[in-house]
Amino acid sequence: MRGVVLAAALAAPWMAQNALAQNSEYANKLAPYVASPTRVMDRMLELANMKPGETLYDLGCGDGRILIAAVEKYKVKAVGVEISPRLVARAKAAIAKAGVQDRARVIQGDVLNTDPDGADVVYLYLSTRLNEQLRPRLEAHLKPGARVVSHDYPVPGWKPTKVEETEGSQRHEIYLYEMPPVKQ
Ligand SMILES: C[S@@+](CC[C@H](N)C(=O)[O-])C[C@H]1O[C@@H](n2cnc3c(N)ncnc32)[C@H](O)[C@@H]1O
Repeated sequence: MRGVVLAAALAAPWMAQNALAQNSEYANKLAPYVASPTRVMDRMLELANMKPGETLYDLGCGDGRILIAAVEKYKVKAVGVEISPRLVARAKAAIAKAGVQDRARVIQGDVLNTDPDGADVVYLYLSTRLNEQLRPRLEAHLKPGARVVSHDYPVPGWKPTKVEETEGSQRHEIYLYEMPPVKQ
């Protein structure tokens, strides 16, 4: 009996972890949901230098705020990729509320399995490790002249065109890259 209890106790953490991994809300969720502060988002969109009609991808788009801001302010098309079904639902509701469904959409999926085809701008707020994993996909799919803006985390192996630190009590870093990237 004691053996059974011990086996169950040992298996419990593994089972819990496995259950989390099976749940698409958490499977391969490699960065937590933290929204870019509005001033950081505004500056990142500004640095991306978007022209009307271009396409922005927000890889890990959270609640979709960036998609809506980009569409409304810069008259671009916007695509979000988000792994959390709960955040996908929130983003879709926000897009509908803003009335921009014709120009903004959200794909539920893993950024490591989604090709940002046709992107002129890629917005990232993930992690250095995830950026590193994404790098080959970005190099393969982004056209010359496309811009990548990353909040707080660099893309290892690429030399940024610009690095900017935001003002204020909470400092944020913005990395701007242009394709094809200069390799470090
Ligand atoms: C730090 S938040 C950034 C949200 C938004 N881009 C912003 O800047 O306000 C990172 C987002 O990436 C999502 N995420 C994490 N791992 C992911 C993955 N492998 N594929 C797609 N989305 C992912 C999280 O659920 C979260 O919403």
